[in-house]
Amino acid sequence: MNRHAKRWPLPKHDYWSTPFAESLLQHLDLRPGLRILDVASGHGIPAFYLAEQVGPTGEVLAIDISAGQVARARAIQGSQLPWLRFDCTDMRALPHLPTFDRVTGNLSVMFFRPNRFEAVRGLVERLNPGGQLVLTFPSLGTFDSLWQRVDQAMIQQGLSNERARFQDYLNERPSAQEGRGWLGALDLERVEAIEYPLEVETGPGHEFLHHPLLRGGFLDDVYECFEDQSLADRFMIEISEDIAQFTSLIAQRCVLSGWKRTSA
Ligand SMILES: C[S@@+](CC[C@H](N)C(=O)[O-])C[C@H]1O[C@@H](n2cnc3c(N)ncnc32)[C@H](O)[C@@H]1O
Repeated sequence: MNRHAKRWPLPKHDYWSTPFAESLLQHLDLRPGLRILDVASGHGIPAFYLAEQVGPTGEVLAIDISAGQVARARAIQGSQLPWLRFDCTDMRALPHLPTFDRVTGNLSVMFFRPNRFEAVRGLVERLNPGGQLVLTFPSLGTFDSLWQRVDQAMIQQGLSNERARFQDYLNERPSAQEGRGWLGALDLERVEAIEYPLEVETGPGHEFLHHPLLRGGFLDDVYECFEDQSLADRFMIEISEDIAQFTSLIAQRCVLSGWKRTSA
């Protein structure tokens, strides 16, 4: 990682985006003057960092589908780093954009639904020959100990419909191996799909059920497996009181990286 970030380091107190972005930066070849497309940019992790590193001879276009996130990013930016632009755009439909030296996306791949391969193809099309794509996401294996506990409880309680939905949800999650396959099929070279474990700390009960990382996006998926939300609440309260059975909770930070060939 470049040690010269001064004004726009990754936020120290973000315990999810920052560790994923650190893994992304570990694999990204980042230099002054590069033109970068950062997708699923949220409120600017790692777009601000990237913009500071490419400097005024470079350019960063950071896109997000959420107008609220784009507004938040622009408010943080003010008139700084004028070679960085935040735009409200769907990363799954980019034919109108120019091409870039790098395409990055921190915590992005899980939002490539419904056709993740086509979404990755669209990003590769936006790369210049010789350019690099680097994406991160929590890969299959993330919080496995929790999912095993949930599955066991569903079996014990005879929740067969809920369990079938839950299994569909688990099976739909992308793996590092699947990601590697996409980049290989798109003829990228020097393909890497590397996972770095990240422990997420939690306490029992309310702390678990309302944990900002777990509730948004992970636990919500379990609630969605239930038609009866009061049953879901009772089920999840029981799980939350049994965290010793499934902690440590380990996420897998997967980094996908590949380079577009110089001669197509
Ligand atoms: C988990 S956040 C990651 C944000 C940021 N990169 C970070 O690391 O903090 C995922 C972002 O993807 C955005 N997103 C979801 N679907 C998208 C799409 N189809 N096109 C562009 N952005 C999308 C969401 O609005 C959200 O801001």
